[in-house]
Amino acid sequence: MLHGTQYSTMKKSYLFLALAVVFVIIQFFPIDKNNPPADAAKDFLAVNNAPAEVVKLFHTACYDCHAHTTVYPWYTSVAPVSWFIGNHIAEGRQHSNYSLWTEYNAEQKERKLEETIKVIADKEMPMLTYWMIHWEAKISPEERKTMTDWLETL
Ligand code: HEC
Repeated sequence: MLHGTQYSTMKKSYLFLALAVVFVIIQFFPIDKNNPPADAAKDFLAVNNAPAEVVKLFHTACYDCHAHTTVYPWYTSVAPVSWFIGNHIAEGRQHSNYSLWTEYNAEQKERKLEETIKVIADKEMPMLTYWMIHWEAKISPEERKTMTDWLETL
């Protein structure tokens, strides 16, 4: 006969084992880390001759999710965190892909430019979960203004 406490200890270790097994299994479903080609001739900043300071800010705060130059740190190899990040990259590129800027028509460019100004001015972007890990992407109000001032000239 097992005592109550022995029984619950056993239950706990089974639960732990089950979780460990699930964790191992999900590692067999990695995200796709192959960046599509990043052609300067199609790049938003390059074709619009953005000043170096603006280029740096976009690269630091936006391009990991909105371009084809994504850098994938070690934790993007660990499911389920990797799935969460992979979704943000896929969604970010879908909403506004600065690596494929020239492929948008005039109307799309106009709309995406307006949205870009808005999300920077309203501090909606970069996403909170991003800058919490990438402190360098926590851009200051002055840096936001540098970006929007230049965007307004387009
Ligand atoms: C961690 C990934 C990530 C980063 C970094 C990031 N974004 Fe986003 N962005 C997203 C996702 C996901 C969406 C779509 C869902 C949403 O709107 O929250 C989005 C949406 C957008 C949209 C569309 C908004 C709309 O109204 O539909 C724009 C424009 C945008 N981002 C610009 C930027 C700019 C500019 C930066 C840098 C200052 C940036 N993003 C940084 C992931 C990111």
